[in-house]
Amino acid sequence: MFKNRSMEIAADADDGTAVALPEAPRLGWLAALRAAAAATPDGLPLPDYLVKHYWWAYLWRPAVWFFDHQVIINAIVFGQYRKLTNETLRLLQPHSAGSTLLIASAYGNMITKLAGALAGKPLTVCDVAPIQLEHVHAKLVAAGLDQRVQLDLMNAESLDYGRDQFDTAFMFLLLHELPPAPRRRALDEMLRVLKPGGSLVLAEYGADAHRHWFHRVRLLRWIFGSAEPFLPSLWKEDIDALVAASAAVHGKHVVAQEKVSIFRGFYRVWRYRVAQA
Ligand SMILES: C[S@@+](CC[C@H](N)C(=O)[O-])C[C@H]1O[C@@H](n2cnc3c(N)ncnc32)[C@H](O)[C@@H]1O
Repeated sequence: MFKNRSMEIAADADDGTAVALPEAPRLGWLAALRAAAAATPDGLPLPDYLVKHYWWAYLWRPAVWFFDHQVIINAIVFGQYRKLTNETLRLLQPHSAGSTLLIASAYGNMITKLAGALAGKPLTVCDVAPIQLEHVHAKLVAAGLDQRVQLDLMNAESLDYGRDQFDTAFMFLLLHELPPAPRRRALDEMLRVLKPGGSLVLAEYGADAHRHWFHRVRLLRWIFGSAEPFLPSLWKEDIDALVAASAAVHGKHVVAQEKVSIFRGFYRVWRYRVAQA
């Protein structure tokens, strides 16, 4: 169904990298549920931030079923799901995308839409959570698209792909879920595996430019920050600078090609061209 191509990375809990779940002698019911959701049959380490902050959304089977309804995922992004996926697809330019990598799976129909649009060109999806890969595999089978997509169990911070392997790579609402250090490592890896001449597409929350009223209401900011603990740091991040720094690590540079603002800037989809420095 999917290949286990995970590479272990250094344990560093506060940094958000992989950790083994701590032995908890007496767990409360919530902690017990979390531990059960995060247990992987082969003992594969999951990133600490995923287990601590997002187990209820991505690792717990009932939640995986619940969230992956079009109506739910659309509600979570305030009715912007279609626009987000359409703009992401447009910027991915599937007719000329070449070999394409999606770093981390996604709920909704993003992956099936892209697999269809790529019309047989290779699509690879990697994710660190086995349950997410099982889930997307079932969706691809139901859509008759499973033969077109390679699924790899892998941590975005430590990709087991070669340098310059992909023509196109994208992330769909992943960066804001990563603490700053893993965010940087995931971008470094993305830029490593992208060919010069290739493209990088990021669909994300927009910067906190106080243009959207969600950014201006203190209570809402608190709610967003509680549900998505690393979103406030992404709001402040200079994504252009971050991507440029990651490209430089691999002797590459990036040129922003198109920047789409959605929902008055609350979301964005950006496309960069990668070149040899
Ligand atoms: C892409 S993000 C958010 C997607 C968005 N909420 C949606 O479903 O449309 C969620 C996925 O990222 C995966 N993920 C989180 N950290 C990861 C990492 N370091 N490497 C690979 N996948 C990761 C989770 O397992 C989950 O499947």
